[in-house]
Amino acid sequence: MRRPFLNAAAFFLLLVCVSAAHAQTAKDDLAARGQYIFSLAGGCACHTEPKGTPNAGGRVIPLPFGKLYSTNITPDKETGLGNWTDQQIRDAMIKGVRPNGERLLPAMPYEAYSGMADEDLQALIAYLRTLKPVRKQMPRLKTWLPFYRGVGTFFWTRFVAKSYTSVPKAPAAGAERGRYLVEHVSLCIDCHTPRNSMGIPQPSLYLAGAKKGPPLNVEVPNITPDKGTGIGDWSRDSIADLIQTGTKPDLDNVQGLMAEVVEAGYKNMKREDAQAIADYLKTVPPINHKTN
Ligand code: HEC
Repeated sequence: MRRPFLNAAAFFLLLVCVSAAHAQTAKDDLAARGQYIFSLAGGCACHTEPKGTPNAGGRVIPLPFGKLYSTNITPDKETGLGNWTDQQIRDAMIKGVRPNGERLLPAMPYEAYSGMADEDLQALIAYLRTLKPVRKQMPRLKTWLPFYRGVGTFFWTRFVAKSYTSVPKAPAAGAERGRYLVEHVSLCIDCHTPRNSMGIPQPSLYLAGAKKGPPLNVEVPNITPDKGTGIGDWSRDSIADLIQTGTKPDLDNVQGLMAEVVEAGYKNMKREDAQAIADYLKTVPPINHKTN
């Protein structure tokens, strides 16, 4: 009489084990996909101090009215994201809101990330959870302007930021995928589009570089197809090579932040994604704008 019950119990146990294993595999797959999104995103390199512990924050970002320190995005429970839910990480990334309601300054490109496809965002968050937790507390924002965070972000969200409607799926190929990566994942726009004195990007100089460009106030080149001042003469493959290796057609190497995002992420970009970016860059309007 007992047998059928035992058999059923054993079968049930087997089912539980198989579905748990399935769930774990699905989680691993998601994190593995997220690792690739992290590479596409240049390894979120602003969250690593030059020569510092990866992803533990602390890089100084100069702002018009002070100094901001990038945050620890490892899963440390006290000083990182360990106690944040997926939704809280998502809200910080795409809405610029911390779990305590505090607003992030727009140096964190949440407006651009708000156009990231849900599937990519979810995978990226799953990957962040697999990083080694590092305990490192960040100094607070240093500014002489009272209420900088509150007032600055209020004006930004009220008058400047436009929010994108997020897409469930990322474009799979072609220049459309290139645009998606340039604007919402790899964030070429964030460094290569100059900002005005208030820190607001200038759409009329889309990707046209700056003498003193964001985020570190150094020269950032014009990457529009302008022949004189941009990358008009570069072939599709030489643009893709630069993204994956940091080597320019004249065999010189890129320096500074560009070298950092290549090393921390773009070097693992698939060839077809680097080519999709090149294809898109060839479609943007050429802008004559000298940066040196
Ligand atoms: C974190 C900031 C940052 C991001 C993100 C970034 N760049 Fe750059 N990029 C720079 C800087 C700074 C330089 C100049 C490096 C140097 O002086 O050698 C540069 C150089 C370049 C150059 C060389 C241009 C020339 O004329 O020498 C190209 C092309 C380029 N970037 C394309 C891209 C593309 C495409 C993306 C997105 C996939 C991207 N960059 C993302 C900061 C960035």
